[in-house]
Amino acid sequence: MSLIFSGIQPTGNLHLGNYLGALRNFVRLQDSYDCIFCVVDMHAITLWQEPAELGKSTREVAAAFLAAGIDARKHILFNQSQVRVHAQLAWIFNCVARIGWLNRMTQFKEKAGKDRENASVGLYVYPVLMAADILAYRATHVPVGDDQKQHLELARDIAQKFNNDFGQPFFPIIEPIIQGEATRVMSLRDGMKKMSKSDPSDYSRINMTDSAETIALKIRKAKTDPHPLPETLAELEKRPEADNLVGIYAALSDKTREDVLREFAGAQFSAFKGALSDLAVAVLGPIGAEMQRLMKDPGHVDRVLRDGADRATALAEPVLAEVERIVGWLKP
Ligand code: AMP
Ligand code: TRP
Repeated sequence: MSLIFSGIQPTGNLHLGNYLGALRNFVRLQDSYDCIFCVVDMHAITLWQEPAELGKSTREVAAAFLAAGIDARKHILFNQSQVRVHAQLAWIFNCVARIGWLNRMTQFKEKAGKDRENASVGLYVYPVLMAADILAYRATHVPVGDDQKQHLELARDIAQKFNNDFGQPFFPIIEPIIQGEATRVMSLRDGMKKMSKSDPSDYSRINMTDSAETIALKIRKAKTDPHPLPETLAELEKRPEADNLVGIYAALSDKTREDVLREFAGAQFSAFKGALSDLAVAVLGPIGAEMQRLMKDPGHVDRVLRDGADRATALAEPVLAEVERIVGWLKP
């Protein structure tokens, strides 16, 4: 049976990349799959989080799921730390995954920076916890942005090694779902850098709760080159900033990059940026407004998360019990 699992970290500043690379796809997939969506607050603390902010950010991401259109009655929405199974299964997977595999993870290298000795151990084993998130439900499909591809390959390796080591096909082979024209939205200030929650410049990203004026201002200030928009994809690909803006326009309007070039080839950026900011405001405006409304009702959001956590626990507990039996732990 197919089952979707995906997660988003509550680390502040949910942005257009999270929306186009992840959230929007989740909303579409919920019509064809059973889905479990998780606000991964355990992953968040692999980097320092102010305790007073973490709860707020957790509610904000939950609000974004709801505002984007996730049906939390039909599907499951919860925050990770409420379901103990994630940590328990992660320990077993820590003993399955190999140090050599983790040493290859490029995101650890990026996030740890130069002072690797000083990174948390949690940051290093982060992808193991991610494998536990998915496999605690024996989920089969995982929609994510392009940056999570390597982590999903590791999760597959863990599932496969577990199945081999213990001689039974217990875990499914996970399929990533990386789809759309915006699987990797780039910074508005630098077409070679990913749009990210942690970029010090707020002008690098469009936040999901930005006002219409802020969205327009950020797009107006977005870095571009001096040439008009090209006719062909091949020319576009040589111009990272132009490619990014065209990709965003395509994703927001559900078109391909080719369609967008057909419409705007030869146009100046000033005209294109005007059209892009109208489009971005039309798509994000209502979602941002609904997020703001939900964040004023923390009781409601907390009840959704609590209920989701109860239902997630009911699914994950039997999987963990079976894994513990397979491993050979005595449970008299
Ligand atoms: P994170 O904010 O790291 O928890 O990411 C949540 C989801 O958003 C994951 O599926 C990421 O792959 C996706 N994502 C994050 N940044 C981007 C981006 N710049 N472009 C496309 N997808 C992204
Ligand atoms: N690591 C993912 C990110 O930063 C978030 C995440 C945690 C996740 N657990 C997951 C995504 C399980 C998919 C499935 O984007």
